[in-house]
This record gives sequence, C-alpha cells and structure tokens, in this order.
Amino acid sequence: MIKLIVCKDYEEASDKAAEIVLDVVKKKPDCTLGLATGSSPVGLYQRMIRDHEENGTSYKDVKSYNLDEYVGLEVSHPESYYSFMHRNLFDHIDIKEENVHLPSSQGDDLQKNCDLYNAALAQTQVDLQVLGIGSNGHIGFNEPFTPFDSVTHIVDLKQSTINDNARFFDNDVSKVPTQAITMGISNVMAARKIVLIASGANKVDAIYKTICGPVSEEVPASVLQQHPDVTVIVDEAAASLLPKEKVKVEILNTEVFDDVVREGTVLVDFFANWCGPCKMLSPVLEQLAQQYAGKIRFYKVDCDADQGLAQRFGVTSIPNVVILKDGQLFDRSIGYASKDQLVAFLENAL
Ligand code: GLP
Repeated sequence: MIKLIVCKDYEEASDKAAEIVLDVVKKKPDCTLGLATGSSPVGLYQRMIRDHEENGTSYKDVKSYNLDEYVGLEVSHPESYYSFMHRNLFDHIDIKEENVHLPSSQGDDLQKNCDLYNAALAQTQVDLQVLGIGSNGHIGFNEPFTPFDSVTHIVDLKQSTINDNARFFDNDVSKVPTQAITMGISNVMAARKIVLIASGANKVDAIYKTICGPVSEEVPASVLQQHPDVTVIVDEAAASLLPKEKVKVEILNTEVFDDVVREGTVLVDFFANWCGPCKMLSPVLEQLAQQYAGKIRFYKVDCDADQGLAQRFGVTSIPNVVILKDGQLFDRSIGYASKDQLVAFLENAL
C-alpha cells in the first residue's frame, strides 16, 4: 500500500524524507540503504549531512547500493552517478568507500557488470530504498514497459529521459548518454521499505498514474502499489492531479483527529501493519474511496502507533471500520468485512 504525504513544497518534502531515512539509520546503524540520484533526493542528502555534522549520526557501518549509472561516462565525469553521489552525500558523511556500491559501467563486458551487481544484491537486504521518479514514471532507469520481474540490466534511455536529463549536461541533448545500467524493478521491490520523493509540475502525471492508475508496466512506478511499505512524498505541484479524496486517505493521529472528522460522513479504518486481514482490506478501501469520492471521506488510524484513538473507539480487534457522521460514531463493523458488506454499510450511512 502506498502512504501518500503531500507537502507544501520541496523543502518540506525533503524534511519528511529525512525523518524517515534518519529513523532507519538511527534504529539500525548497520543498515543497508538503496540510494538514488537526480535532483529529487538532493534536499534529503543535505539534511542527512547536516544531521551527521550536528548530531553525529554515523554511517561507518552503513552500506549503500545505488540504483543506476550512465554508460559512456568515465567514473570521474562530474555527471557520472558515482561523482554525483560523492559530491552530494558520500564525501560529507563517514560512510566507508568499500561499503558504497554503484553498478559499474566501465569496461567491455557490461552484462558481466550487471551479473555482478545482481549477485551482490541477491546477498543483501536493502532496508530502505530511496527513489525519485522520471516524468514518464520510470524508477531508477527502468523505462516504461520494463518487465516487473527485471533485475539489473543495460537500458536504452527513452528520448523523454534524455531530454529531461539534458539540464545536467549544459542543456545539450547530444551530451547525454543514451544508455545506462539500472537495478531492475524486482531489485527495487525487494527493499523492506521504500520512500519516493517527487516535486514540481512535470511529475504530476507520473504521480497520478503511480498512485491512482492501474498497476501496469507502462508506468514502472505503479508497481509500488504492490509493495507493503511505500511512502510517496510529494509537493503540492506534483500532487495537483490527485483527487482530493485520494489525498485524504491518510493516517490520522489523536492530535488532528477531531479537527479532521468534525463534519460530513467519514469512514475510518483501524489497522495494524502486521495484520494480514488489514492488508487484504486495504486495496478494497482504496477502491471504495474512489467509488464514493465526494460523498464519504476515508482515513486510516494505525492502532499500534495511536492506541489512544483505538481505545477511544473500543477497537479490540482489527481490522475495524468505523463510520462517523459529523464527528459522532454512527456505525461500525468489527473484524474483516467483505467489499459487499462495506458497500451496504456505506450506503446505510449516506
Ligand atoms: C534519472 C534517474 C532516476 C531519477 C530521475 C528523476 O533518470 N535515473 O533515478 O529518479 O532521473 O530525476 P529528478 O529527481 O532530477 O527529477
């Protein structure tokens, strides 16, 4: 399930992303991070550097695996992803060079380089994968129609990607490499947790399709809908095509709960991340949120994170779906409810 966080602007989005990444690093100082290039994670990397300098968070036992690398650039080229990562992050924290991994695009046997990277990834559990997104929905350099079961491979970049990335090459399209090596989609999906950052109006279409569209190889990032722990952090410009109701299927906590549910008919799903039936119910609720858009608002409450709300509503089993009307409890369904039961339940509340 995708958790969506809509932020005012890029700075706020970078703050949120940094909260998530730093939480993982602090809880697990020998974690493995999957890292991305592009402008989207730069603000996150700045915050990681600041936190390292100010709070001493250490990366001495952290390992990193980057998503991709251009073919045809020397490692020392300023726009190689190797240079990018050192300039924007690695040179400013205490990560060890031997713990830093990027696919190598050097030498004659690129397929062998891919195989080596896959072999390394196969022995690694990435704890947190950071992603940006291309304007055509690509993740890493997995362009539209890359099979979801792909592993690290050589890719011919789409013209739209070459055009987008020309800004890093003096706006000269002819200087942009036409090939890259990228982790495949199945490598990305193997991460325990994923955070995707997107900002700006040129991402609006890709974000809409990633979150609201069908899961399709045409939009590589849409596969994230099938991952159990993805947070998509967007600024308002990138979120502007998302239906309001979609934006509001968010996780509420005690502090804001009363303010948010004061008016109208609201369905609240009490769930826990470890609960199988909760996970099964989630896509059903997402569908219903679309179907009942404009009539009922949908929210989620994480019972583990916010036991106060769970207790207040007498939630002793999960999933537990509660309907509120103008802030008052109207009806409830305890335990797993089928889609038909939920529809009957919603119709009754309207
Ligand atoms: C490149 C990278 C992607 C990145 C994308 C978006 O194509 N290979 O990993 O997500 O650009 O870049 P930006 O964040 O600069 O918009």
